[in-house]
Amino acid sequence: MQKVAALLAAFLAATSVQAQAGAYQQCGGINYSGSTSCVSGYTCTYLNDWYSQCVPGSATTTKTTTTTTTTRSVTTDTTPTTTIKTSTTTTKTSTTSSKTSTTTAPTGTGVQIRTVQDPVFHLYLQNDGGTAVIGPEASSGHFTINGSIKLNGPELYLNIASATTSYRALTFDSTPSFTGWALEGDTIITNQSSSYGRQLNFLACQTSVSGEWQLYLQLGNDQPTGRTCANNISIHLPCLC
Ligand SMILES: *[C@@H]1O[C@H](CO)[C@@H](O)[C@H](O)[C@H]1NC(C)=O
Ligand SMILES: *[C@@H]1O[C@H](CO)[C@@H](O)[C@H](O)[C@H]1NC(C)=O
Ligand SMILES: *[C@@H]1O[C@H](CO)[C@@H](O)[C@H](O)[C@H]1NC(C)=O
Ligand SMILES: *[C@@H]1O[C@H](CO)[C@@H](O)[C@H](O)[C@H]1NC(C)=O
Repeated sequence: MQKVAALLAAFLAATSVQAQAGAYQQCGGINYSGSTSCVSGYTCTYLNDWYSQCVPGSATTTKTTTTTTTTRSVTTDTTPTTTIKTSTTTTKTSTTSSKTSTTTAPTGTGVQIRTVQDPVFHLYLQNDGGTAVIGPEASSGHFTINGSIKLNGPELYLNIASATTSYRALTFDSTPSFTGWALEGDTIITNQSSSYGRQLNFLACQTSVSGEWQLYLQLGNDQPTGRTCANNISIHLPCLC
């Protein structure tokens, strides 16, 4: 009985590796070898050549979600169940889960962007009247990252305001004045050849709205006076698991 359970667990573990990619998991990109289709309700969305991600919703423009009929054999073992395992060479046949078709365009599709460090653990980037803030997931923005960071729905772009201080307010505007956003893994950075060079530190300062923090690009140690701020926070796509 135990053996059967262990074998079943091993089989499930093995198959799930090659099954559809889960919410916010990677589903494409150069040298990516995992599943290119997403679980139900999620669409594989191109972010850059290196990274496509499963995001909520269905596809608008059918991106190259090539449902490469994966006839791959799995030998991977993640679970530490020793003996029986060696033989489980599950041959995965083509997942004919016709994901592609649906062409309804839900507004506000795209990836979320969030902070992961205390005291701003899992707060989500969003627009508050043209000011970029982080706050509850319920009001999270959804974005397309492609040099610019476009907020989908209202179609606003994340820009960096100029200032003499070492912290620079992030704003949402109708045009992308800053086009140097990039991804380094799941981390949002400004690219090396942008006017800021490669930066990935942000300053988050509490606003008068409970649970909301204003976000600044942080280039040094200046801070707005009289406000509670979190230093050198990085911002990320939800998951690169
Ligand atoms: C992609 O994988 C190939 C083969 O493993 C490797 O030679 C190449 O350097 C990889 N490309 C990048 C940019 O990682
Ligand atoms: C990214 O931006 C470039 C330049 O604006 C555009 O040509 C390209 O189609 C965009 N790619 C995606 C996937 O949106
Ligand atoms: C880097 O950012 C600049 C804008 O600051 C942009 O014009 C350029 O295309 C970006 N380069 C890369 C490789 O993304
Ligand atoms: C925060 O980051 C900025 C810019 O990267 C750096 O100059 C500064 O020393 C950092 N401050 C702290 C307290 O780590």
